[in-house]
Amino acid sequence: MKVNNVELTISAVSAKQYPDTGFPEIAFVGRSNVGKSSLINKLIDRKAMARTSSVPGKTQTLNFYLLEDMLYFVDVPGYGFAKVSKADRAKFAAMIEEYLTTRGQLRGAVQLVDARHAPSADDVSMYQYLKYYHVKTLVVGTKVDKTSRAKRASVIKTIKQTLDLNQTDELILFSAETGEGKAQVWKWLEQTAGI
Ligand code: GTP
Ligand code: MG
Repeated sequence: MKVNNVELTISAVSAKQYPDTGFPEIAFVGRSNVGKSSLINKLIDRKAMARTSSVPGKTQTLNFYLLEDMLYFVDVPGYGFAKVSKADRAKFAAMIEEYLTTRGQLRGAVQLVDARHAPSADDVSMYQYLKYYHVKTLVVGTKVDKTSRAKRASVIKTIKQTLDLNQTDELILFSAETGEGKAQVWKWLEQTAGI
């Protein structure tokens, strides 16, 4: 999909603020600082539509980006960031849970993991959570520009094994720096959103 039109419809903290348009939605989830906002920017060819930061915990609301008046990307706050207070962490968890468990037009989730390391315990929990709620999932191993080509096969194996990836879910290696994997991610998004 070539994206000419994109707008941030709302930064929501509760269900009553979600857009009521009924367009299909894709959620982007992953640890703080893993590169969710960077992936979104790369997919829509914008430098800073979704705000990125080298400081973890930048995204603190559910940000609904409307693409071409037909599809929403939902940038979700990251999990697993130690410096976020316990109270805030509980707040984010409740916000994410409310969204993932109640949103009828949610077509799938893109879960990002850092391709340089094995998925963390938090990553495994998140994937299991998505499976428990039957959310179709694309796992994106990101920052792959920092991994040598020779290691790709073992990176893929480690991620698949650690998450115990379902047969029906896909894994794509990606880099927001080089654009590697972008076309494959778009293909999954279009199929999953039915656009
Ligand atoms: P939160 O909003 O805090 O949850 O973080 P996020 O997951 O949205 O991460 P963000 O996109 O803000 O990126 C975090 C940092 O990682 C930034 O410094 C990015 O420039 C960097 N980064 C993201 N993707 C890539 C990538 O593919 N390659 C490299 N080398 N750096 C990346
Ligand atoms: Mg972010």
